[in-house]
Amino acid sequence: MHKANQIVAEALAEIKEHIRPDVETLELNALAEEICRRQKVKPAFKHYRGYPSSICVSINDEVVHGIPSHRRLQAGDVVSIDFGVRYDGYFGDAALTVAVGEVSDTAQRLIATTEEALYAGIAQVVSGNRLSDVSHAVQKTVEAQGFSVIRDFVGHGIGRSLHEDPQIPNFGPPGHGPVLQPGMTFAIEPMVSAGSWEIVVLPDGWTAKTRDGSLAAHFEHSVALTEKGVLILSKL
Ligand code: MF3
Ligand code: CO
Repeated sequence: MHKANQIVAEALAEIKEHIRPDVETLELNALAEEICRRQKVKPAFKHYRGYPSSICVSINDEVVHGIPSHRRLQAGDVVSIDFGVRYDGYFGDAALTVAVGEVSDTAQRLIATTEEALYAGIAQVVSGNRLSDVSHAVQKTVEAQGFSVIRDFVGHGIGRSLHEDPQIPNFGPPGHGPVLQPGMTFAIEPMVSAGSWEIVVLPDGWTAKTRDGSLAAHFEHSVALTEKGVLILSKL
């Protein structure tokens, strides 16, 4: 899983380098597929429940699962890239959000807060903690900045499948759910709106956007709880 996730992390770093005004989101998808061939891994999302592409590219008010297209990025956009692979039977999954050129102060704060919320969640991955301690830490970090956590999507267990139990909501009271133990592996993925948390799914059946049109951001790491503490598998 570490190897799978390191490949995801390297790929996201390489894709990030190509994010600039005028790039077509399909070009970013093509790059991800070239990386998969180079690394001899399978893209995890392609054909997953009929998803057509290897990455998700979600722009501005799109929260997650945006489908690569001929749309071109523009200065001022907030772009989330989500990518996963399968390597030797194990999955890696991670996501990040970046600004294209200059973005608003709110957009910068949204991106920074979402990443901060991911790390606040990861900090709760401690033996003996309960799973909802992760959820609660994410929610607290987000709401302290006046933003909202998306409620219709969750983080998840990950391993021999992309999505395993348990689901990991990004909100809720602490002290509930399974007790965390070494050997457990999770994908933690806060999705955050600058406005309301309500989303709508576009007629393409995938693209989830905020109902009120506010900006959204998404960060994800796959992590393992080891005897020595939490290991962020998808961090370079
Ligand atoms: N990181 C997302 C997830 O964990 C990616 C899924 S996109 C899909 O759910 F197309 F594969 F569904
Ligand atoms: Co995921």
